[in-house]
Amino acid sequence: MHSRSHAKKLAVVLLLSGSFPSAVMLNGQDLPPVNYDESRVPHYTLPDLLVMSDGRRVTTAEQWQKERRPEILKLFEKYVYGRTPSKPVRVEWTLVESSDEALQGKAIRKQLVGRFPEFPNAPEFDLLVYLPKSDRPVPVFIGLNFQGNHTIHPDPAIRVTRSWVRNNPQLGVTNNRASEASRGAMASRWPVEYILGRGYGVATMYYGDIDPDYDDGFQNGIHPLFYEPGQTRPKEDEWGSIGAWAWGLQRALDYLVSDPNVDPRRICLMGHSRLGKTALWAGAQDERFALVVSNNSGCGGAALSRREFGETVKRINTSFPHWFNDVFPAFNDRVNELPVDQHMLVALIAPRPVLICSAEEDLWADPRGEFLSALHADPVYRLLGTDGLAVREMPGLKQFIASRISYHIRPGKHDVTPYDWQVYLDFADLHLRPDSSRKE
Ligand code: GCU
Repeated sequence: MHSRSHAKKLAVVLLLSGSFPSAVMLNGQDLPPVNYDESRVPHYTLPDLLVMSDGRRVTTAEQWQKERRPEILKLFEKYVYGRTPSKPVRVEWTLVESSDEALQGKAIRKQLVGRFPEFPNAPEFDLLVYLPKSDRPVPVFIGLNFQGNHTIHPDPAIRVTRSWVRNNPQLGVTNNRASEASRGAMASRWPVEYILGRGYGVATMYYGDIDPDYDDGFQNGIHPLFYEPGQTRPKEDEWGSIGAWAWGLQRALDYLVSDPNVDPRRICLMGHSRLGKTALWAGAQDERFALVVSNNSGCGGAALSRREFGETVKRINTSFPHWFNDVFPAFNDRVNELPVDQHMLVALIAPRPVLICSAEEDLWADPRGEFLSALHADPVYRLLGTDGLAVREMPGLKQFIASRISYHIRPGKHDVTPYDWQVYLDFADLHLRPDSSRKE
């Protein structure tokens, strides 16, 4: 087994360099050149969503729900993201700050801290919630953020994260501690006033509160809270960081469904990039998320692994060995033998609305592979009686597809933009806002 921390350092260097060279030595491995040529995508056959591992065909919605869905969930646990340990670990949420006159009187702000009562030295989760003023419970978008809650908006009341943050001189992060300098730095990804203006709340939590995104053999973050006596790292088939981030999202959801100002049936989950992979995995596992948006989630997210276009399973496991479980790398050179591919992850969200978003220049994330996952998840949605994906061919730029599975591609780079939020909210309005509740 290679050293995870060495791989991590290399991954960071490559990330900072902004682009991946076509061939690269990574963690002592000579990786094949990245393929960006559609004509060189290998021939592949996807696992059939509607055939059980024992060969039986799935022909009814009930069979999907009772047998195939749980089977596929287990396959993703076993082969990709890892199993969440069954030990019950409790999070208690405490309101630590609130205002009914936030953002120039436009919003309600609540800040909560999630603590582990059985583990006083464990990490703490900071949850930031903005809600539009309304006399009825409102729908909410929840998503993890990359740099700390205080970076999503310049609001001076937002608590600066106390957790480990990757050093970043531009954001004033030194010694892995965030400071005032990064307040509002990521605001372009979180157009809070716009979202509130559309009648939705926004809830966010820093992913590093749950598990800092570097490889330390799972000594920090929440993994150790789940160790059995004598255990020092997750077992081979247990969760990595994505599994932990997804668990943290579910704990934030526990709070949201209990908030009387929030409509528990309209909580939408959104995530970008590695946090888009996380959103899909959390949304797949927890049916309380009413709608899921994956933004530029790529390999290990919405993109089909078998296409090996842009980032591959081998590359992701080499660059980020702490994201998945320790079984996934066994498939680095034989993705065709994986019992799952990522269309099956999208299908686990059925029949709930799911929107897969790509960016034209984000070839690393394989936009076509993301579209194909949406397309191939369609039979499950149809079996469950919804319209699935309304198109068969990949749509052009900026075309909104009005169906239960939707796919959208915009011009530009790997990022979250205010325009993207317009699309997410149009999609959420379409599915979660029957005309009767539009007046809110
Ligand atoms: C890297 C990584 C991707 C990931 C992205 C991100 O590019 O290779 O898999 O989605 O970082 O999270 O920004």
